[in-house]
Formats: sequence, C-alpha cells, structure tokens
Amino acid sequence: MALAFGLCPALPATAAPAGTSEANAAGSADGGDAYAAERMRVIMAILAYVLPRSMDPSRFADPEDSQAIGSALRSMAERADDLETHGVERGSGFRHLAEVLARDVREADRRFRDGRIEESAFLVQQLTENCLACHARLPSTSDTPMGQRLVEEMDLDGLTLPERARLQMATRQFSASLDTWEKIFASPNTTPAQLDRMGYLGDYLTLCIRVTGDPQRALATLRRLATRPDTSDWVARDLAAWIDTLEELQTRGLETGDGSSLKTARELLNEGDRVRERPADKTGLVYDLVASSLLYRYTESQPWGGHHVAEAYYLLGVAESRIDRSYWISQSEFYLETAIRMAPDAPFARQAYDHLEKMTLQGYTGSSGVHLPDDVRENLEALEQLIDASAPPTG
Ligand code: HEC
Repeated sequence: MALAFGLCPALPATAAPAGTSEANAAGSADGGDAYAAERMRVIMAILAYVLPRSMDPSRFADPEDSQAIGSALRSMAERADDLETHGVERGSGFRHLAEVLARDVREADRRFRDGRIEESAFLVQQLTENCLACHARLPSTSDTPMGQRLVEEMDLDGLTLPERARLQMATRQFSASLDTWEKIFASPNTTPAQLDRMGYLGDYLTLCIRVTGDPQRALATLRRLATRPDTSDWVARDLAAWIDTLEELQTRGLETGDGSSLKTARELLNEGDRVRERPADKTGLVYDLVASSLLYRYTESQPWGGHHVAEAYYLLGVAESRIDRSYWISQSEFYLETAIRMAPDAPFARQAYDHLEKMTLQGYTGSSGVHLPDDVRENLEALEQLIDASAPPTG
C-alpha cells in the first residue's frame, strides 16, 4: 500500500514537531499560535490520510491498511492530547474544544482497536466538526496552503458541495470555502429555504462575520438571495433582517477588541432579542454572531478570572445557544458553566444557571420524558449549590 502523502502518519517520528518548548507560548504577537499550528499540521496530515479511507468502509476495514490506520489514529490522539495540555494556557474556549477533540480522537482509536470499524469510521468523519468549531471562533486573514494541498490530494470525489465547503472551513481554507458556499447559493437546485434549514446560511455568515471579517461580501450574497424568485416569504423576512443589521452595524464600526466590547456585546444581544418574535426565530442571527465575535476576542485577550470575563462567558453561552446547531459541537453549556464557576456570586450566575438547566433538560428530553444521567444531574446540583453558597446572606 502506498501512502499518498510525503508526510506519513504511520511514522509519527517523521511528522513529530521539532522542539516543543520554544513554540509553547499561548499565541504570538500577530495573533497566531505557533505551537497549535505545529500540532495542527500533523493532525491535518493524518486526517488527510484517514478521512478518505473512513468514507469507504471496505478501505477502512482493509487488513492491509489497518495497521497504518491504527497507528495514524494513535498519533493523532497524541497530538490532540498535546493540544489539550496547551489549552490550559489558552483559556477556556480553546481548552474545551481541544479536550473534545482529544476525547473524540481517542474514542475513534479505541473503537478501531476493538474492531468496531464502522463506528470508528463514523467518528473520524465527525472529527471535522471539532476542527470547524474551533477555527470559526476567531478572525484569520490567511488561508492555509498546506490544508489546501492536502485536501486537493484527498480522494473525496464522493463529497457533495456543502460537505466540501465544510471540509474547507475545517482545514482553514476560508476563502475557498466562501467560494464553494457561493457556488451552492447560486445553484437553482436548492431553494433559499433549504439553504437556511440545512444551516448553510448560518455557516456562511459565521465565516464572513467572525473569521474573514467581510460583511460587504455577506451583504452582496444576501441581497442576491433576497431577489431570487424562489425565496419564500419567511426566508425573505430573515434575509431582510440580516441585511438591515449588517448595514446598520457597518455604520457603527465594531472592530474594536478593547474593554468596551463587553458592553457592546451585551447591547447587541439585547437588540437581537428585540427583533426576535419567537425564541427560535432567526432574525437576530447577525446580532448574535457579531456579539459572539467580540466576546471570543475579548475572552482571548483578557487574563483568566474576574466578573468581567465571567460575564463574557455567560453572554457567549447565551449567544452560542442561539447560533448553535445540532451538528456543531455544542459550546453553549460549557460557557455557561464556566461563567458560574468563575463568578458564582455575580448577579448573572443565576441567569446562567437557569439557561443551562433549561438547555440540559431539553437535551435529555425524549418521547418518554426527561432522562438526566446521574453525573449530569449531580453537576447541575453542584452548580446550584455553588451559587446558593455565594449569595449574600438575607435578612
Ligand atoms: C482547540 C482548537 C482547535 C481545534 C479543535 C482544531 N484546530 Fe486547527 N488550528 C487551531 C489554531 C489556534 C491554529 C493556529 C492558527 C494561527 O496560527 O493563528 C490552527 C491551525 C490549523 C491549521 C494551519 C496550520 C498551519 O500550517 O499554519 C490547519 C491545517 C488546521 N488547524 C487543521 C485542523 C484540523 C484538520 C482539525 C480537526 C481535526 C483542527 N485543526 C482542529 C485551533 C484548533
């Protein structure tokens, strides 16, 4: 069996990042993170090897390949563990997503070794969700040539255009991903209502607003969609709301990452609330995205702890719960819990708890009622006790 790439994942020694100490800083001056990028390149090379194989069960199960796939998954798990350790320095959002990635890779590896090949292949395909969630938080100006090269070399003929666009997002080929989304939006085969329902418009807006910082491009695309004859009335209503918000926010210029961003984010979330007629209404999406973008930058730039940072996590939890879609790694609960643990005595801790409890109950409600696992229930109880114990004595 020939490996398609120079960087052989089965031989971690060749791919192992050189010296870990000098690049161990939590982020360089230009906002890049050399330590993470180094690990990412290895993880990316391994993904380029295992992902195409995972899409074809007969290849994933091929005994000839199995040793190489097994050791590829193992070395990916090691890099993900490194990233998790590094996450301790990078702060909460990063750490959580690094932990989730490490856990998911270990699980794919474990099932592969247990001979549960199909389950392992499925988990490998889901990994791109982790990549996407972490990369879609913060601004980035450049695409990754390496990601592009590896994806081009991958044998992914079976991918649909949306799958391709999401893989491009996951591998940080942001402008290529925008091009692919726009190609999808220009096709008459999918109605704007379908684009919306599948979450494609949300993915695209997330990319334009949080990552590439290009509201003009988003505006042009939304205006084109709004004039399509097959745009249904309610989608037209959402599109009009998003266009209005983008136009309005542009005149305000929200590119500051300074102390005022917490206050601005709070105001934006309130404005989003005002335009929403029902809780599940999407008209406030652009407000939520812009607020979350400010909050991610704020939490990355501030030292850990204190009421302000805790409030930022609370607001991020609220914003993400509105943006979150089921197939993204859910970040909302984690941010709400972080806010409570960081400042259980803050006035917003109770609100964060109520939001968290509601989301958790929703997540565990099925046709036969609510089934909270013991550890989830215990965690909620512990958080509530923390808040009660921090409340100022009454009377
Ligand atoms: C916990 C957050 C996180 C997760 C999860 C994550 N990444 Fe990254 N990734 C980063 C950061 C941070 C960088 C560095 C960006 C920078 O330099 O500003 C990066 C950079 C990259 C790069 C560019 C490397 C270079 O040459 O500069 C690629 C490719 C990449 N990631 C692929 C992936 C893939 C594939 C996955 C999923 C298997 C993934 N990442 C998951 C945070 C993450």
